[in-house]
Amino acid sequence: MAGTVLGIFPPHCESTGTLSVPSTTTAFLPTIQSIEGSAAAANTIRQSSSLSLKKRGEGYGPPLDNISQTVGNTPLVKISDRIAPPGRTIYAKCEFFNPLSSVKDRLALSIIEAAEEDGSLKPGMTVVEATSGNTGIAVAMMCAQRGYPCVITMAEPFSVERRKLMRMLGAKVIVTPKAGKGTGMVEKAKELAEKHGWFLCHQFETDANWKFHYETTGPEICNDLKGMKFDYWVTGYGTGGTFHGAGKYIKENSPGTKIILAEPGAANLIGSGISTERNDDGSPASSHPAFNPHPIQGWTPDFIPLVLEKGLDQSIQDEMVDIPDGAAVQMAQALAKNEGILTGISGGATMWAAVETAKNAPEGSVLVAMLPDTGERYLSTPLFASIEADMNEEELEIARSTPNFILEPSGE
Ligand SMILES: Cc1ncc(COP(=O)(O)O)c(C=O)c1O
Repeated sequence: MAGTVLGIFPPHCESTGTLSVPSTTTAFLPTIQSIEGSAAAANTIRQSSSLSLKKRGEGYGPPLDNISQTVGNTPLVKISDRIAPPGRTIYAKCEFFNPLSSVKDRLALSIIEAAEEDGSLKPGMTVVEATSGNTGIAVAMMCAQRGYPCVITMAEPFSVERRKLMRMLGAKVIVTPKAGKGTGMVEKAKELAEKHGWFLCHQFETDANWKFHYETTGPEICNDLKGMKFDYWVTGYGTGGTFHGAGKYIKENSPGTKIILAEPGAANLIGSGISTERNDDGSPASSHPAFNPHPIQGWTPDFIPLVLEKGLDQSIQDEMVDIPDGAAVQMAQALAKNEGILTGISGGATMWAAVETAKNAPEGSVLVAMLPDTGERYLSTPLFASIEADMNEEELEIARSTPNFILEPSGE
């Protein structure tokens, strides 16, 4: 399944020897070809690593057969000392480089291809899934590309732009009442699948979810850090697929790396020690008593997913970190302003956990933090609540500093 995809990856994961290098590095951006500064940047080689960066202008690789082939192989990007504590190196694994800008593109590809292979998904069948957004967008993309009708169930509180994106990709979106929480939208998807004979993705239960991260996300991180220190890997969880799959691979292949699992302080499900009761198919039978609504969309539903539980049972996590209220949004805003890295609230939460871990880690430590998606998906959420659409006083002052084309606020 993953092998066919890995075969078309551009060659930037291949080791081509080392050169002595300047202290700054330029990240490889497969789809962005900048002319500016390219002469100096083109030959930059990753410091301390045996891997070379692909030169700008070399191209992505041979033309692709379809968009799903661009899933995965996302870059690690160094975080500057404006955010990383002195003497510690933090790399962000930027999952917004996936075609629909989130880690969930991996999940959708794996579920659809696994179901096509085992025959549970046949041509013309409708695909249905319950999702807080990114999975729906990714599943809608895969269905559009493969020609399957797509129905997504989604609880009311999740951001409106996500619903619109799914509809743009041809999916039907069934919004479920807020009171029913995450379990409500999961139940609705199950009901619809049973009634209409549709294919249900089961993202919270299927082994295809974590296996794809074991085959792609984990190896990508280890390959890109080949020859370098790798002390901590930091992630949160939604389904737990990233944590279980990539975590298992990292544990097996980089045993010195500590795995840090974060969850919202307001929804301390794992921390509570209370397990989730399940139906026969592994789906949750009820809402978890430790759940409270929290601001980190895409993280920690109101139950412990089976995919997560299977990872926890293998003790993949070395440490747990609780994210305090407000920390995730603040860090996501700091990443945008200081690094030019536009990630969502969960990316902010993971980076906050990475920075806190780094502060207590020995000098010289190297950490990798997962950034699951793009900040653009959160325009109507608290992430952008403090960002004005109209000019503020400072901007007006700049506008008025020359005589022409001044748009004065109406009413003044
Ligand atoms: C925004 C966001 N962050 C993080 C995650 C976590 O990913 P996973 O489902 O692999 O645990 C998800 C997925 O639900 C997500 O949508």
